[in-house]
Amino acid sequence: MLGISDKVLEVCSELILSEKHLNEVMERLRKEIVKGLSKETNETATVKCFPTYVRNLPNGKERGKFLALDLGGTNFRVLLIELGGDNREPTKFKMQSKIYAIPQNIMLGPGEALFDHIADCLATFIIENSMKREVLPLGFTFSFPLRQEGLTKARLVTWTKGFKCAGVENEDVVRLLKEAICRRGGAEIDIMAILNDTTGTLMSSAYRNHNCKIGLILALWLSMIIIQDVEIDVCAVLNDTTGTLMSCAWLNPNCRVGLIVGTGTNACYVEKLENVGLWDSDYNEPAKVIINTEWGAFGDNGVLDFILTDYDRDVDEQSINRGKQLYEKMISGMYMGEIARLILERLTKDGHLFNGQGSDNLYKRGNFFTKYISEIESDKPGEYQNCRQVLEELCLNYITDQDCKDVRYVCEVVSKRAAQMAAAGVACLLNKMGEKSVVVAVDGSVYRFHPHFHNLMTETINRLADPGIKFDLMLSEDGSGRGAALVAAVACHNRTGPGN
Ligand code: GLC
Repeated sequence: MLGISDKVLEVCSELILSEKHLNEVMERLRKEIVKGLSKETNETATVKCFPTYVRNLPNGKERGKFLALDLGGTNFRVLLIELGGDNREPTKFKMQSKIYAIPQNIMLGPGEALFDHIADCLATFIIENSMKREVLPLGFTFSFPLRQEGLTKARLVTWTKGFKCAGVENEDVVRLLKEAICRRGGAEIDIMAILNDTTGTLMSSAYRNHNCKIGLILALWLSMIIIQDVEIDVCAVLNDTTGTLMSCAWLNPNCRVGLIVGTGTNACYVEKLENVGLWDSDYNEPAKVIINTEWGAFGDNGVLDFILTDYDRDVDEQSINRGKQLYEKMISGMYMGEIARLILERLTKDGHLFNGQGSDNLYKRGNFFTKYISEIESDKPGEYQNCRQVLEELCLNYITDQDCKDVRYVCEVVSKRAAQMAAAGVACLLNKMGEKSVVVAVDGSVYRFHPHFHNLMTETINRLADPGIKFDLMLSEDGSGRGAALVAAVACHNRTGPGN
C-alpha cells in the first residue's frame, strides 16, 4: 500500500486540530454566544444571537396551503406547500417548487433590482400555477444575518456569501419585497395593454351593438383582475437555520438545534427567555425562543487566530467580505474547495505533486469546487476513479497513484477540519442547553453530499459533548421551503386563532 508523502503530511499538519484546540474553540464560542445574548454586550459581540420571535415549535397538526420564498445561495426558489394531515408522516405534505438563477450582476447590483427579480419570479410562479386570485400566507426564508424586530419585520445587518446588493443593509427586507411587488404595476400595465387588444375587440363589438357601457365595465373588470396578479400575505421572515429546525421539529419533538453546512454555515437553537437579555417582548409560555446565532462571524474579533493558517488568511483576503465570517470561511462550501486548491497549488509549485507540472486551471482561484472534495472522497480506498477525473478536468497530466493518494489526503484534511469545527459548535450549543436528549436538524450541500461529514461530526460531538447528553444529527428535508411554510403556519395560527 502507498503511504502519504512526507512533504504532504508536513504541509497539511497545520490544519490538524488537536482535542485541546477543539475544546478551546468550544469554550471561546460559548463566551461569544453569551456576549451576543446580553443586551449590554450585543452591540460589540461578533456572534449576534438574534432572537427570531419563533417561539412555538410545530405540533404536526399544521395544515393549509402556503407560499415560500427561499433566498440564500446562488439560486432563488419559490415554493407552494400544502401541509395536510394530522400525523407526522413526511408524506403528509405536497410541494411544488421552481428554481430561478440569481445572476452575478444581480448578486452585486442594486438592491432594488434584486427584489424586482424576486417579485418577477414570484409573479411568474403564481401565474404558471394558476393561483392568480388566491392570497396565500407566505414565509420568506432570507438566509443572511437579520436583526428581527418581529416575525414580519427584519433588517439585514450585513450581506454574506458573495452577495453585495447596495441599499439593503439596515433595511427591512419584508418592506423591500412588498415595495417590489407594488412596483410591478408597470409590468401589469404591459399585460393590460395586450389584454386591451381583446377588450378593444370586445368594446368595438359592444359599440356596434350599441352596448358600449357593458363593454367598458367588462374592460375595467378584466384590468382589475390583472392588477391583482400578485397579492401576498407575508406571515414570517426567517433564516434557513430556523426553517431547518422547524421542518425537523414537525416530525420530531426533541429537535432543538438547526444547523446549515452549505454555501455558508450557521446554527440556531432553542433558548430560555430568561437567558436572552435582548428579549423585548412578553414572557408568556412557552418562555423560549429560537436564537439565530449567526455563528459564521465567530472569529471576526481574532479569537480564532490561534488556529488560522496561511490558506485561511489568503481565502479571507481574496473574499468580498474581508475580515468577516472567519468561522464560516473555515467550514462552508463557498470556501472549502479554495482552501484545498491553495494547498494543492503550493505542493505542486514546490515540486511535491504532479512532478511539479501544474496547470492554469489548477492555479486559477475558485477553480477547485467544493463538490470535487466530496467526489474525491467518495472513491473506494485504493481506487482513484473520481480523483483522476477531477484532476483531468483541471488539465493536469502525468498523474500517478501517489499523486491521487496525496490529493485525497489534502481533501480529507480540509473536510475533516471543517466537520470538526462545525462539531465543536454543535457540542457547544448542546452543553449550553444542557438537555438530556436533543435532535439536531441539519441541512446544506456540504453535509448532504460529503460522504463522511455526518460521521466525522458525530464522532467529534460524542467526544466534546458533556457526558450524559444524547444527540442525533438528522438530515432535515428542505428546511428552507417546508420550514418557511411551518413558520408561516404557526404564525398565522397564532395571529388568527386555531383552525387556520
Ligand atoms: C450565512 C448567513 C446565515 C445563513 C448561513 C447558511 O452564514 O449569514 O444567515 O444561515 O449562511 O445559509
